[in-house]
This record gives sequence, structure tokens and C-alpha cells, in this order.
Amino acid sequence: MAENIQKICVMGLGYIGLPTAALLANRGFEIHGVDVVQSTVDTINAGKIHIVEPELDVFVQSAVNSGRLKADTKPAEADVFIIAVPTPFHEGHVPNVDYVKSATEAIAPFVKPGNIVILESTSPVGTTHMVEEVLKENGVDTSRVHIAHCPERVLPGKIMLELVQNDRIVGGLTPEATEKTARFYETFVNGTVLRTDAKTAEMAKLTENSFRDVNIAFANELSILCDKFGINVWELIELANRHPRVNILQPGAGVGGHCIAVDPWFIVDAGGDDAKLIRTARERNDYKSEWVIGKIEKEAKKLEKKLKRKPVIACMGLAFKPDIDDLRESPALYITQRLSASMDSVTAVEPNIPLETDPKKKLGIDNPRFRLIDVFDALEDADLLVFLVAHKQFKHLDVSDLNYLDFCGVMNKHKKTI
Ligand SMILES: NC(=O)c1ccc[n+]([C@@H]2O[C@H](COP(=O)([O-])OP(=O)(O)OC[C@H]3O[C@@H](n4cnc5c(N)ncnc54)[C@H](O)[C@@H]3O)[C@@H](O)[C@H]2O)c1
Repeated sequence: MAENIQKICVMGLGYIGLPTAALLANRGFEIHGVDVVQSTVDTINAGKIHIVEPELDVFVQSAVNSGRLKADTKPAEADVFIIAVPTPFHEGHVPNVDYVKSATEAIAPFVKPGNIVILESTSPVGTTHMVEEVLKENGVDTSRVHIAHCPERVLPGKIMLELVQNDRIVGGLTPEATEKTARFYETFVNGTVLRTDAKTAEMAKLTENSFRDVNIAFANELSILCDKFGINVWELIELANRHPRVNILQPGAGVGGHCIAVDPWFIVDAGGDDAKLIRTARERNDYKSEWVIGKIEKEAKKLEKKLKRKPVIACMGLAFKPDIDDLRESPALYITQRLSASMDSVTAVEPNIPLETDPKKKLGIDNPRFRLIDVFDALEDADLLVFLVAHKQFKHLDVSDLNYLDFCGVMNKHKKTI
């Protein structure tokens, strides 16, 4: 069945859609890639990339040079349609499936009997059914269209590798849709392609991210308790993890990124009171950032009394996790925004973004006194270093003579205070 597939239309050319499109083009499929942003389309058609991801540039250049990857702002006829558009949330943590809806409306005029339509975006339970409804409303006879969900679970930084190696879950609206879609993935995935129904596939992806969120919430709560009790939380976790059946994750300044900090809300929104643990974990992880702000403000007040002036604070790290430039839902950025809104002496070090970055535009920081500085200036000028992200550039700094707070374990693994 999968042998007849030649042309694929990929909707959304971001972190997921573009690597998928480029990989498939390099595997011999003819790819019509679609994005609503003209500059993204132009960049890709020039054989270049607009996002940072190892090896992606090589894949895109070879795909475009071979003529098998063409980008456009409008969809075209294809054998398979892959939807990889954003699924954020609205105000109040209500899932926003508007992008999925508009991408589905856009492909509707091109969908023919026998086609496969795959939703890859991380989606609330029921969204694959919504795709079918939207196609129907737009005049498509879906009785012979195979619609399935296949959630993506790649790790940024390793996307090109994991696209091929990871196991995949495929859940169709019908067993035939599941089978046809699974066979398509089996043409380029080395991992196992697991078959289920659409709702279970949707819930599986949300479950994976909620599992991590709940477990990080446990670590974050431990870190708050340990601070109260005067115990080094990282040492504690290392010791507890020597139990053969215990594996506690690492605490931090909160939880960030567009997956773990977002997807559990999709369960909470639909689950209501039956999703108490998942909701509480999400709230605890968000609270951890507030707690960190409180600790920094308290320390700043102490220093102000001692120095008889406002202390200069350097926030060490802004990204949502170590060694990347991604600021989406980043607790470190949120903490820095909050501190710089109430204090005039806040600086930040983020080795993964250029020093010339416009704080207002790129970081949402309005205070004109805020500065992005390099790590050496921070060591020289700051009265208080606040480690928020365990970037590799911070790991070997000698801060023993300086005032610092470590919320990510980069300095403090074996010291007795937070
Ligand atoms: N990035 C990851 O690591 C990752 C991992 C697993 C799952 N996901 C999920 O994959 C989905 C896509 O995420 P992403 O990181 O690629 O997002 P992204 O923002 O990098 O890319 C999405 C692209 O879709 C485009 N777009 C928006 N509406 C469109 C439309 N109607 N038609 C065509 N293009 C449209 C945007 O312009 C953008 O370029 C999300 O549901 C996300 O949760 C992402």
C-alpha cells in the first residue's frame, strides 16, 4: 500500500515539519512543503533554514537541490498530507487548535479518495476527529480518506536522528487508516511503529509529557522542602536514586519549553476534577518560579542593606533548558522579566543568544537599564549571581568568593545551601 505513495504535502515548516519534509525528500518522496510565513518559504526554497537544528541544513540543501522539496504558501494535491502546525493554548490554559483547523481547511480542496491525512501536532484528545469534521464541512467525502494521528516525540538537537530511530505511535480513525499510515511510517522509521486508535495515540503523547511534568514537580517540591530543612537537594536525590527502584528527576527554576509546560493542560482542560494530580503538578512547577523570585528578592534586600546600594543581579541563563537557544515558556526568562520589571540593576547572561539581541523585542524586557552581558562581565560586576540554567559555560566557573544562588544544580551539587 505504502508503495504507491509518491507525493507528500507537509503543512507547517517549523521544528517538526521541516526536518520531516527534508528527511522524506532525501528518501525519494516528492515534497510540497507549506508554511503561512512567506520568509520561511523563501528561505527554504533558497536551500537554507530558518531554525537551529544540527544537520538540518545539509538535509534541506540536498532536498532542495534534488528538486524533491519545494516550499509554498499554498497546499497542492498529494498522496499523503502531514499536519505539523503549532498547538499552543489560549488565555486560561485552554487548548488552541485553531492552527490545525486552518491547515485542515487549507488542504480540503486538494484531498481526494484514497489519500492519507496525518495529524502530527501534539493535540487534545478528539482533535483527529475534528480534522475529519473540518474536512467534511469543507466538502470532502471522508469515507475513503484515511485519517490518523502520529504524535512526534523527537528531542530538539537530535531531531534528524530521532525522526528515524524513535518508536512511533500511529492511531487511525479506522483500523484501515491505522494500517495504511503505519505502513507509510515503516518506509522511513527504523524504530517500531506501534498501532492503536486515534484517541489513544493523542492521549499517549499527552501522557508522556505529563509523566515528566509530574515527576519534575516532585523534584521541585523536594527542593523547596530541602531548602526549608537546610539539606542539599541534589545530594539528597543522588543518594535516594541509589535505591534500585527510585529515579527522581532534577529540580530547576520551574518547567519550560513548548511541550512539557503546555501539553498537560490539554488533559486538565478536558479532564476537569479528574485530572487533579496533573493539574497540581503543573501548578507546583509554575509556583517553583515564583518561589525562586521570592528567594532572589530576599537575598537582594539583604545585600542592599550590607552594600548600602541596590545590588547588581546577574541572571545566569535564559533558555528553557541547558545548551539551547529556545526561550519558549522559559522559567529563567520569566524570572528575569519579573526581576527586571521591579529592579533597575538586573543583567543576564545567555551564551546561546547574541549579546546584541534586542531585550524588548526578543526577551519582552522593557526596562532600559536591563543589559545582556557576557559571563566574565557578570563575574566582575554582579553583586549576586543567580544560576537559573545549567549551561555548560557555567559548569567550571569558580564562584567560591562571590554571592550566588543556584537553582539548577550547576554549582551547588554538593554545597549545603540553595
Ligand atoms: N519542536 C519539538 O521539539 C516538538 C516535539 C514534539 C512535538 N511537537 C509538536 O509539533 C507541533 C509543531 O511544533 P513545531 O515545534 O514544529 O512548531 P513551529 O512553530 O516550529 O512550526 C510550526 C510552523 O507552522 C506554520 N503554520 C502555522 N499555521 C499554519 C497553517 N495553517 N498552514 C501551514 N503552516 C502553518 C508556522 O508558521 C510555523 O512555521 C506542535 O504541536 C508541537 O507541540 C514539537
